[in-house]
Amino acid sequence: MYCVRNITEDLYWVGGSDRHLALFENIHPIPRGVSYNSYLLMDESTVLFDTVDWSICRQFIENIQKVLKGKPLDYMVINHMEPDHAACIEEIILRYPNVKIVCTQKASLFMHQFGFAIDGKIMEVSEGDTMSFGKHVVAFVAAPMVHWPEAMVTFDTYNGVLFSADAFGSFGSLDGQLFNDEVNFDRNFLDDARRYYTNIVGKYGPHVQDLLRKAGTIDIKIICPLHGPVWHNDLGYLLDKYDKWSRYEPEENGVMIVYGTMYGNTEAAASDLATRLVEKGMTNVVMYDVSKTHVSYLISETFKYSHIVLASVTYNLKIYPPMLNYIMDMKALNLQKRTFTLIENGSWAPQSGKLMRELLDEMKEMTILDNEISLNSTMKEDDVDLMDSVAESIMESMK
Ligand code: FEO
Repeated sequence: MYCVRNITEDLYWVGGSDRHLALFENIHPIPRGVSYNSYLLMDESTVLFDTVDWSICRQFIENIQKVLKGKPLDYMVINHMEPDHAACIEEIILRYPNVKIVCTQKASLFMHQFGFAIDGKIMEVSEGDTMSFGKHVVAFVAAPMVHWPEAMVTFDTYNGVLFSADAFGSFGSLDGQLFNDEVNFDRNFLDDARRYYTNIVGKYGPHVQDLLRKAGTIDIKIICPLHGPVWHNDLGYLLDKYDKWSRYEPEENGVMIVYGTMYGNTEAAASDLATRLVEKGMTNVVMYDVSKTHVSYLISETFKYSHIVLASVTYNLKIYPPMLNYIMDMKALNLQKRTFTLIENGSWAPQSGKLMRELLDEMKEMTILDNEISLNSTMKEDDVDLMDSVAESIMESMK
């Protein structure tokens, strides 16, 4: 059964949601599912903006058939070639053999790499090119590395719709709701939007900044991303979040304590520090067990908070493996501008503090507060004064 929504009088959402998939990109848990958005414009020419993941192809085809009502499909604009959006390109060609594919030169290259039968169908476009489909005239804007090098966004100059590819997307299925003001975004989507952005596009902050600068020069009325809600008001809210995330600025003054514990002793020290912080007036404190929290959630929260405490046992004379995985992911995603406190633990040769410091020193604009703690097996009464001074130095650094 088809399931479509009108966005404007002649623009339709023809995507769908996958609530079965456990891991997006076979890495990131998506307990709330994910939507794959595609849009169909019914002007003098008919134009499809991106396709969808293979998992919802049947729904997608029914949606297109419902909107087209037997008309041919003239164009398919491919803003992003990653298979979660491009998987159904050949399926569309099979059903609409005269369709022309509008995309960047690099997207065309990738289609060939993926083995798509697209010969004779490609119309290559570049930054600044425009195309008229009737009353709608669109402009193509390069968006390299948001999130692949071939990516572009398409701006409809007639109605101010921006087809933004991966930019401004979110994990989470669309459960009947489509628009940002039909969902409780802060409650239900913000964490998933941050987790999606930081883990998928987070590495490419400078490229997102480039796109935001270009977006600032056009009069955007509606943002149609490839995942998550369509934004038709309050665009400043979303643009502000993207600006912060892509400049690696924290959203909140607060302390995120990530601990790697084997028998609960490092966790007990982390709890002690958390309690001291709260007693000193910092109530925005969160604690995460690095072994029990998927790293995609840790990364998202690390983008959110200003201060991070890493408390790790020493394991095989190295950093505890789940903690190492988290720090290496942080590094891979180019995270910057955070203030760290380090707590190491070890029963005979504590090493994790020194090793964590070395990794953080290799990242940009990371501050490590001086008074780190080295524990031997457990926190003891003798460690209380130092722990209190650590809490104090975190409070000081927030001023
Ligand atoms: Fe949703 Fe980069 O694909």
